[in-house]
Amino acid sequence: MTKESRYESLLPQVKALCEGEEDMIAKMANVSALLHQEFGFWWTGFYRVQGDELLLGPFQGPLACVHIGYGRGVCGTAWKDERTVVVPDVEDFPGHIACSSESRSEIVVPMKKDGRVVAVLDIDSRELSTFDEVDARCLEQLVALMTGSC
Ligand code: SME
Repeated sequence: MTKESRYESLLPQVKALCEGEEDMIAKMANVSALLHQEFGFWWTGFYRVQGDELLLGPFQGPLACVHIGYGRGVCGTAWKDERTVVVPDVEDFPGHIACSSESRSEIVVPMKKDGRVVAVLDIDSRELSTFDEVDARCLEQLVALMTGSC
């Protein structure tokens, strides 16, 4: 099964989990569990925009940093630039915030509602170069389903 087809099989499940559910934290909790179980990532979770920082939201995996400033780390950069950031090797990303020393590569996808970033989906891997444009495209679709914008 290709990575793309694994994501494709998750999308209807995400849709079903999110339909009729208004509470974003509940949706984030189930979606992080779904992704984490399917792919066996090291860390899978959400940070929500709260004022001028990102605040840790539902996640699966080891303990993580609670507050991340605008433009800081990979998460804050994805928020500021309003685009998905794929990091093949975290050591090559200036300002990367190492919540876990095990993390080697990372992807952060902004979630937008009414044109504004309201949260980011952050996924960490213990292997280098885990994420590419397939992950970016599929995860962008996934977060759009969560806000009901696709
Ligand atoms: N590495 C992230 C911080 C969050 S943890 O990976 C869970 C960053 O640089 O923003």
